Amino acid sequence: MLPYPKKVTYLEGIASPACPVEETMNASLETEEYHIHISPEKILLEGGSKTGLSYGKTTLEQLKLLYSQGLPCMEIQDKPFYPYRSFHIDCARHFFPAEQIKKMIRMCAEFKLNHFHWHISDDQGWRVESLRFPRLHEIGSVREGDHFDKCSSEELQGGYYTRREVKEIVALCEELGIEVVPEVDMPGHVMAILAAYPQYGCENREVKVGTRSGIFQEILCAGKEETFTFIEELLDDLMELFPGRYFHIGGDEAPKSHWKACPHCRKRMEEEHLESFQQLQGYVENRISSYLISRGKIPVVWNEAVYGGNLDPAVVVQLWIDDRDGMMKAHLDKGGKAVVSNVMNSYCDYPYGSVSLRNMYELNTRPAELGERGEDSVIGTECLMWTEHVRDGARMEELCWPRFAASAQVGWCGPDRPPYEEFEQCLMKLLPLFERHGIHIMEPEGWNPDPETAAAQIAAFNASMFPEDVEASGKAAEDI
Ligand code: ACM
Ligand code: ZN
Repeated sequence: MLPYPKKVTYLEGIASPACPVEETMNASLETEEYHIHISPEKILLEGGSKTGLSYGKTTLEQLKLLYSQGLPCMEIQDKPFYPYRSFHIDCARHFFPAEQIKKMIRMCAEFKLNHFHWHISDDQGWRVESLRFPRLHEIGSVREGDHFDKCSSEELQGGYYTRREVKEIVALCEELGIEVVPEVDMPGHVMAILAAYPQYGCENREVKVGTRSGIFQEILCAGKEETFTFIEELLDDLMELFPGRYFHIGGDEAPKSHWKACPHCRKRMEEEHLESFQQLQGYVENRISSYLISRGKIPVVWNEAVYGGNLDPAVVVQLWIDDRDGMMKAHLDKGGKAVVSNVMNSYCDYPYGSVSLRNMYELNTRPAELGERGEDSVIGTECLMWTEHVRDGARMEELCWPRFAASAQVGWCGPDRPPYEEFEQCLMKLLPLFERHGIHIMEPEGWNPDPETAAAQIAAFNASMFPEDVEASGKAAEDI
């Protein structure tokens, strides 16, 4: 079974897979907790909530697949270690039809992942129909070509999800016990937003939707009050679509060159007694966060947003890149919470030669940089699908699967998970589950490439990129 349950006790006897199932809600169990008791006469399924019950059914389905001739009698007591077990899909770099997203969601639900971090805005595209700011989807969703790597194209590219499609995806997630966590990446990664509404940048100059990969200088102006009014109205518009508790506001890779040259931003720093441009970013995140918190949300940011040292501890920080000057630890020491998703154990856009299935499984959810409070402050994990180099559903699927399943087990079992070899053996037996969903999974030989194959994959990946873009991003990163 994947993820492997907390406690399994085998009993005497065999039950027919067609044996009747009795379902009951048990208020003494936690929301995500369930128990299964299999006896020769019947299968008893208890859940702490609708979600707990549906997890029990998922486990039972896997058991039926594993033991199609007869189910061993057993008692399962199960609940997750981490409450936040997330998967991420970037629909900004490349747009994927709603059906592809639903297919991924259904597959994720089989492994009890419970948060869908939906990256709907970035330099290269805005992807959701906006009632309040229609230029976002009219202008911000279309770009003049695709030059992310050497598979370039000059054709116009675009796409956005209608509000109806978004509602359908949110409803599907709700049915499967998954909360959608939308991400509007701010204050950087905003070229698509500024292409539609350039007045919210520092310079009010024309910006085009990005067609290349990398880190760009465009940024929302932190000095003009209108920027915050715009953000709040935009969030209001989105909160109508996304009823979940968490809301991701980005905060990664925001170079400060425009802020440094902007009189509005400099004035803001003076008025707010901010000592660095990182603190100005902290101010921006805090203002957006306090608006979200006033609407009952829990904001989430990428970990660069703690670099200023002034981030509100109520904001959850997603650790993906190295911490700076112990700022992450300091945030947690103030009571902040973290999601752990460091690149080399969580990013599925890289070839398996860079991030193998074993690497995914061996994510350290208690990294030393989180300090002593790390243990209590980690709420969960995330596996990520960035799509700069992913242009179709089949490629997305083979990059994500089975790596997302490894992440699901890490999040569910926590630090004391079964050894990797057991995980892989179980996975081999559950391959029909992927067939059932029509998922194009990476073949087992590709899960953990040998060093030579890995080196060749990494070399091919690096060679596919434009060296000038890699260099420019490296330079931009120095100013974050
Ligand atoms: C990120 O990968 N830029 C969060
Ligand atoms: Zn400015």
